[in-house]
Amino acid sequence: MNQPLPAQALGAPAAVKHPGLLAWVSDMAALCKPDRIHWCDGSDAEYQALCDQMVAAGTLRKLNAAKRPNSYLAWSDPSDVARVEDRTFICSQKQEDAGPTNNWEDPATMRATLQPLFDGCMKGRTMYVVPFSMGPLGSPIAHVGVELSDSPYVAVNMKLMTRMGSAVYDVLGTDGDFVPCVHTVGAPLQAGQADVPWPCNPTTKYIVHYPETREIWSYGSGYGGNALLGKKCFALRIASTMGRDQGWLAEHMLILGVTNPEGKKYHVAAAFPSACGKTNFAMLIPPQGFEGWQVTTIGDDIAWIKPDAQGRLRAINPEAGYFGVAPGTNTITNPNCMRSLERDVIFTNVALTDDGDVWWEGMGEAPAHAIDWQGNDWTPAIAAEKGTKAAHPNARFTVAASNNPALDSAWDDPAGVAIDAFIFGGRRSTTVPLVTEARDWTEGVYMAATMGSETTAAAFGAQGVVRRDPFAMLPFAGYNMSDYFGHWLDLGKRLQQTGATLPRIFTTNWFRKGDDGKFVWPGFGENMRVLKWMIERIEGRASGQEHALGVTPSYADLHWQGLDFSAEQFAKVTSFDAAQWRDELALHQELFDKLAQRLPAELVQTKDALAQRLAA
Ligand code: GTP
Ligand code: SPV
Ligand code: MN
Repeated sequence: MNQPLPAQALGAPAAVKHPGLLAWVSDMAALCKPDRIHWCDGSDAEYQALCDQMVAAGTLRKLNAAKRPNSYLAWSDPSDVARVEDRTFICSQKQEDAGPTNNWEDPATMRATLQPLFDGCMKGRTMYVVPFSMGPLGSPIAHVGVELSDSPYVAVNMKLMTRMGSAVYDVLGTDGDFVPCVHTVGAPLQAGQADVPWPCNPTTKYIVHYPETREIWSYGSGYGGNALLGKKCFALRIASTMGRDQGWLAEHMLILGVTNPEGKKYHVAAAFPSACGKTNFAMLIPPQGFEGWQVTTIGDDIAWIKPDAQGRLRAINPEAGYFGVAPGTNTITNPNCMRSLERDVIFTNVALTDDGDVWWEGMGEAPAHAIDWQGNDWTPAIAAEKGTKAAHPNARFTVAASNNPALDSAWDDPAGVAIDAFIFGGRRSTTVPLVTEARDWTEGVYMAATMGSETTAAAFGAQGVVRRDPFAMLPFAGYNMSDYFGHWLDLGKRLQQTGATLPRIFTTNWFRKGDDGKFVWPGFGENMRVLKWMIERIEGRASGQEHALGVTPSYADLHWQGLDFSAEQFAKVTSFDAAQWRDELALHQELFDKLAQRLPAELVQTKDALAQRLAA
């Protein structure tokens, strides 16, 4: 039997005055049976002590302080390198409420499965109690969570990624709401058993959500979105169901501010699937030819969006840090990101250079020798011969938002920023043009709903396979995807009835390839050229041509100063082929067949109209 520990044995600090929190921690300690409980206060001293402890345990390596002050490198178990979508579950009472795109299990059955796995799962380890706020502390749009984890790596990452620490206990008071999040690496230690640098369970993983009771249970992985439960599990899967019930949106979107040379500022939220350019776009530096333009970052991965009293959609970034893709990031593709990474960073699964710094593919000139993310010798010759990567393709950095030189002054504003445009953009080497504007809200929702993208290393499984990723939310919607589409349509209708101006909706594709297999569009900072056109569409200054898919710019509609990009090249990234689009439409239909049960009729009508235009 699991005997709840008496309150004093829990060692809770005096700041914890919440009987419900104490009772839950006591119950979970009785179940998981950790050797110790550590209540996190979120202080710098605690962060330092945990990092020192992990250095001693071999989980972290301290980087050369002269090159990368206050920074660490972790190498995960090779079996634990990305989100595990096939082990992620939405356990609503009814299967229809999870919908056909989610893995579903009956909550009672799932609880019965998890109970023996969690029994004793933290033996030999410390249970960290990690209190965190998603959004500014005490803000009316913020929500509190408490994560119990046996991973000190999770505790320090949560400090960088969220507002974590004692102040959250004050916000909770005696009866505040919090989302309980239980996480274990699923590797209990027997008495005397030595630990490994990256404990995890190589065979058993469960990332489980109970949307009705707003609980998260995660077993077996220590990596990223599987383990940092404030991020995908809470801020997207649980929050999207809260938003459905309460009339707001939780989205897989970056948020940026863009200021034109006249000083007028706009805000854009963009949903690109995992590893498809959100961090890059959120930190964009306008290129040559865009003097006087400025882009600032509010968020790089998640947006919580609510209508204000005037019916305008306002967005906050619930996070306080970035867990970003390292490979491909360099001083040309993303200089603001590289500056953010100069100090105070936790790197995971990048290579270690001989001078105690980090390196990854696409960072710049390769070192003559390094130790790869699996701890093996790596040289350019070994890479050429065996194809081994120095960094895992889903290697990541964790860094506080305050390190970002382009951080928006309003990034922390509890009121959020008013959104002027939404962008949806997949990774497609063919078929989808550079940019298209939707003619109205419903057409925009249709474009987002039917978005396809090539899979990336952000999730375990096959890569480079085109799949539908509606709203870039396929792995993150906490409820039925058809209901989610309906929620977007309803919100638009409701706001339009109040007379509010809805944000414009655009789709983009930075990833069209030529016959040589190379990207045709230069991308990165040059995406500013597309962003400027969008802003000027909103202002009514830029022209565009209507065609079957929506409204698109012609070559002359974009600003080309500072870039040598010909009309022929432009045609390659903007052309659309009617035959390819008939195939594409068949894939839209496949998705709609799958989602037929609750699919909003407007989307079917929009598809029929598109099919007719393509046939004409
Ligand atoms: P998650 O954190 O997984 O949600 O992803 P993200 O959307 O923030 O991805 P990120 O911005 O980190 O981009 C990941 C990859 O996309 C990197 O390899 C980048 O080099 C590449 N990338 C980003 N922007 C562009 C672009 O404009 N063009 C091209 N060709 N690649 C890009
Ligand atoms: C994503 O996969 O979309 C990420 C990384 O942002 S993770 O937090 O690991 O899910
Ligand atoms: Mn993401």
